[in-house]
Amino acid sequence: MSSVFKWLRNGLAVLIGLSWGDEGKGETLYRLILLLDLDFIVRWHGGPNAGHTVVFESKKIVLKQLPTGILVPRVRSFCGCDMVIDPVKLLEEIKSVEEIGVVVSPERLMIDGRTAVITGLHKRIEELMEESAGSNAIGTTHRGIGPTYASVANRLDVCFYDLIDRKRLHERFAYVVEQARLIYKLKISKRREKVWFNELVRAGAVLLPFVGDVSAEVEKLLKEGKRGAAEGAQGTLLDVRHGTLPYVTSSHSLAGSAAAGIGIGPKHLGTVIGIIKAYVTRVGNGPFPTKEKGEIGQHMQRVGDERGSVTKRLRDCGSASAPDARYAIRKNGVDVLYLTKLDILTGLEQIPVTVRYILGHKFFNEAPADPALWEKVEPVDVMMPGWSEDISNCRKFEDLPINAQNYVLKLEELFGVPIVFIGVGEDEHQQIIRDISIDPAQTELGIS
Ligand code: IMP
Repeated sequence: MSSVFKWLRNGLAVLIGLSWGDEGKGETLYRLILLLDLDFIVRWHGGPNAGHTVVFESKKIVLKQLPTGILVPRVRSFCGCDMVIDPVKLLEEIKSVEEIGVVVSPERLMIDGRTAVITGLHKRIEELMEESAGSNAIGTTHRGIGPTYASVANRLDVCFYDLIDRKRLHERFAYVVEQARLIYKLKISKRREKVWFNELVRAGAVLLPFVGDVSAEVEKLLKEGKRGAAEGAQGTLLDVRHGTLPYVTSSHSLAGSAAAGIGIGPKHLGTVIGIIKAYVTRVGNGPFPTKEKGEIGQHMQRVGDERGSVTKRLRDCGSASAPDARYAIRKNGVDVLYLTKLDILTGLEQIPVTVRYILGHKFFNEAPADPALWEKVEPVDVMMPGWSEDISNCRKFEDLPINAQNYVLKLEELFGVPIVFIGVGEDEHQQIIRDISIDPAQTELGIS
């Protein structure tokens, strides 16, 4: 491997998004699989609420539940037990990638048997909850994520091991539905229950060969010295405890949660790679202090094609936020950054960067701990001069126009963590890798 990656520590690298999702994790991970010659990938949380877009053989592919490793033939892929998986949707996804020549076999994909199953019941509960929430609605993806995690916490889930035999599944599902009738005062007809059950039976039969003990298998691969990465979904600011409560998802997306979500000890975790866009986007409800409502935000939305890859909702756009980035970098223990979509800012005369927040006379260098304040703080911006040159063919930092270099350096100074990778286009080669020497024990920059 290139000496450029001298900062890479042993252990399972962890890739996480530092904002509200949609930072470009799928494409970034795909590039890193190729660059770092990874042997395996593990997704550890979330489910079909994720949409990891990868440009694969010149076509855009959106992976929802399959780990990104599935696109690279020699790589093994794992779904850790803190994911929630919709088996019907997973089969559709498998079919769609097989149509473009991707082989999905039990040798290449393993789902942890303890993983909770998203059923028709969970999607129905979510529909009712969001409908009745009025102005308190979270703006979820309607994929049954929250209710499935709730059933995990209530110990009322169906897991993949339950799909092993029909009788076991029948007893378990009947109990889970009965409890839902009581807890949510749901009217569920026997006919509806049977439809949901049959969906599980059919999908379960096809998926059973993929079910195994991901925790043990990943540990074995690590002990054999194989190189892997954990693939985060959603983003830090959507974490169920550390995000912008209550407008968050239902799982932990912080790097530290990867160990528990897979079932390995934290000593196995290696370099934490934070993915952050050169600007910020958000889809769904909740605070967004650096949102740009005018021409700048429209430019980001239009040029960046900022539309939810799962729900197709338009994403709000805004300036890079140092307080949010610092908050996310600290909570994840980020070692290095991959800055995505710098090219989208090309053509803006001036680019705002939020250096801190202010509320009354109080400054916040880091996003506020109290989530209610997130709605109230105001951004304090600096304006950085933009550039108009096409940067999509730049492969070295020095090739970038000076204003683009200064923009990146400003973010790096404000964030306090080295930006090693810079994405300048959709194609996997459209990136800049900086030669950076980092003492992992230190957080200071050591750019050579
Ligand atoms: P849920 O995860 O479907 O429960 O949705 C909760 C919130 O997280 C909503 O605001 C969603 O729009 C947001 N969300 C969930 N997954 C993603 C994602 O992968 N990217 C961006 N937003 C997401």
